[in-house]
Amino acid sequence: MLAVKELHKVYGGGPGGRGRRVEAIGEVSFAVEEGSFVCVVGPSGCGKTTLLRCIAGLLPPTSGEVEVDGARVTGPPDGLAVVFQEYGRSLFPWLRVADNVELPLRAAGTAKDKRRRMVDEALHAVGLGDAHQAYPWQLSGGMQQRVAIARAVAYQPRVLLMDEPFAAVDAQTRADLEDLIRSVHQQLGITMLFVTHDIDEAVYLGERVIMLSSSPTHVAEDLVIDLPAERDQLTTRGDARFTELRGRVYAQIQKAKQEGKTR
Ligand SMILES: Nc1ncnc2c1ncn2[C@@H]1O[C@H](COP(=O)(O)OP(=O)(O)OP(=O)(O)O)[C@@H](O)[C@H]1O
Ligand SMILES: [Mg+2]
Repeated sequence: MLAVKELHKVYGGGPGGRGRRVEAIGEVSFAVEEGSFVCVVGPSGCGKTTLLRCIAGLLPPTSGEVEVDGARVTGPPDGLAVVFQEYGRSLFPWLRVADNVELPLRAAGTAKDKRRRMVDEALHAVGLGDAHQAYPWQLSGGMQQRVAIARAVAYQPRVLLMDEPFAAVDAQTRADLEDLIRSVHQQLGITMLFVTHDIDEAVYLGERVIMLSSSPTHVAEDLVIDLPAERDQLTTRGDARFTELRGRVYAQIQKAKQEGKTR
């Protein structure tokens, strides 16, 4: 469904030498099967957001390529949605919640009745069935993030990219949102690529965890999370295998950081 092939990204240092030259992504290759849930972890500044922006067609790679459903990405592909790291800035403050969620459906030319129904369903799914008329700034951070998720889900993407979507919410809301995303994934069969710096979150959510090295990034390890498909916050996190897997990811990230320092 998604293929990243020898992706390499350098910022700045272009013709005329504008800007600081930063080799953000050294060389990254991996593939994601249709309907699977893959998490990406890596140290801060290692290029995770850069990677997602290249996959979403928002940033051209320096070399290498990305394919979504067999087609090379040259701009934002159809059927792909992104939930950004800074969700507060991704909602339009002058639009009510329902209008924010409806926007991509309007852009896609969906009929009015159908749009209403999809917005309704998506807001219900994220537990905001009564927030249609509110403005984003009247909601808490966690609720705003739910709106951003509802907007992505209403669009019924085939691929959903999420960039540290829960970084700014409290632990309890975060656990609820993790389970929300898991159920959305299971119900709709969306292919998920989920970036987080939280190792526990990556292991809890993912069927696979791709660990990135520090910048210039490459894939340090691609680990299959062989926990049962049915997961819940208490049992799964208490599982001995969960502890083992998180230890493995933790060690790999530490190693990546050390390598970053000695380079
Ligand atoms: N627009 C830009 N122009 C120049 N350099 C950039 C730009 N965006 C990011 N970088 C640099 O590229 C590197 C990777 O940044 P990126 O934001 O992709 O990392 P990240 O892994 O998402 O970090 P974090 O975990 O803090 O979100 C950093 O060194 C950053 O300074
Ligand atoms: Mg980032």
